[in-house]
Amino acid sequence: MDSFLIKGGVPLHGEVNISGSKNAALPIMAATLLTDEPCVIRRVPDLSDTRFMVKILESLGAQVKFENGTLTVRAKKIKGYADYELVRKMRGSICIAGPLLARLQKARISLPGGCIIGARPINLHLKGFEALGVKIKIEGGYIDATVKKLIGSSMFLGGRAGPTVLGTANVMMAATLADGITVIESAACEPEVVDLANFLNAMGAQISGAGSPTVTIVGVEKLHGVEHEVIPDRIETATFMVAAGATDGEVTIKGGRAEHLRAVIDKLSEAGVAVERRGADMVVRRKGKLKPVDIATLPYSGFPTDAQAQMMALLVLAPGISIITERIFESRFMHVSELARLGAEIEIEGPSAIVKGGKPLSGAPVMASDLRASAALVIAGLSAKGSTQVNRIYHLDRGYERMDLKLKKLGARIQRVQEK
Ligand code: EPU
Repeated sequence: MDSFLIKGGVPLHGEVNISGSKNAALPIMAATLLTDEPCVIRRVPDLSDTRFMVKILESLGAQVKFENGTLTVRAKKIKGYADYELVRKMRGSICIAGPLLARLQKARISLPGGCIIGARPINLHLKGFEALGVKIKIEGGYIDATVKKLIGSSMFLGGRAGPTVLGTANVMMAATLADGITVIESAACEPEVVDLANFLNAMGAQISGAGSPTVTIVGVEKLHGVEHEVIPDRIETATFMVAAGATDGEVTIKGGRAEHLRAVIDKLSEAGVAVERRGADMVVRRKGKLKPVDIATLPYSGFPTDAQAQMMALLVLAPGISIITERIFESRFMHVSELARLGAEIEIEGPSAIVKGGKPLSGAPVMASDLRASAALVIAGLSAKGSTQVNRIYHLDRGYERMDLKLKKLGARIQRVQEK
């Protein structure tokens, strides 16, 4: 298991190029199963999660080539079965269910199970499929889904914590080839859902309203091959913005999209970190002293849960009290006890973390628990005095493309330590 060794206290300076979005790429990769024609997807980030999705597509019978960020998939003949060993490793793999149902009228997929950030049920995905006429049986840890013909219908997909991103994606993909019209109410509005809808429409689907809470899909007979470029990763962008602020540096972000990050930019500005647009780039630097901020994570266009941990790593440096409330996932505070190892003072009260900020951090060995928690620990290590070793960096490799190299280019003293 690799780790990062960070010698902190160096302000980040320079330019960073943002990669394609992981969470847009994964469902788009699954959507290639909807046609027997070749699809070409550009700007696919080279991550362990996307590599894993390649394996899943191959296991289903697709031919896949992944070179220099361009992925070519031809799913000429596929099967509808994905086993536990494949699905349990990446929860996002559940989004193959919709395409398999549309293409083969059946899908047998292992239940993904929970993960460290929460229970992560899929009841809303199943509710959506059932509304399209799918019969679902759960047996031996597997979902057995079958349908004679998918029939469009109206459904409400809001859940306990609001809409579901991959649930919306899954049902949208299934409905592209259904008979008639499907209307999803309380659909997720995330930019990744919009990117998927754009991909599907380019394949010949008829989807309108993506990006709003009501998405309408008029079923079509067939979808065809297409070329597409994935949107930039808004969470990677947010991570580098926070890192620039936390280290008191100045970073020019290239290839990110400010319009996908309004809530993050707003909170950064409240905290004393300015994001200035310069043409297509964004320049991030502190403006005066850091200030405490209250944040609640929400579905898009609210503050993203995927940037909560990183923002906490900034707010531990801001003198005063910040309250961070996690409203999407029930146990997404695993980074708190690790940040405490660096000297941060944080208390958890129900769904909120109360950050008593302003004490300087000092380096220590810490353990990454999930993807975004790892990013928070890296940011904290970069701003701490002394050395921080972030262990179990494989979590970070799931979702950040060459993060250590990008940080090195910005002047960070960071090294990947490979364990034999
Ligand atoms: N939920 C249900 N029932 C369902 C589905 C979801 O109750 O059937 C609940 C979840 O438990 C959670 C909330 O709804 O409380 C939102 O979950 P959602 O379904 O939107 O999450 P997801 O689609 O499984 C994607 C991202 C996550 C990101 C969330 C929220 C991918 C591959 N994953 O997950 O990304 O946190 O949306 O924005 O797109 C990450 O990149 O680090 C990551 C965890």
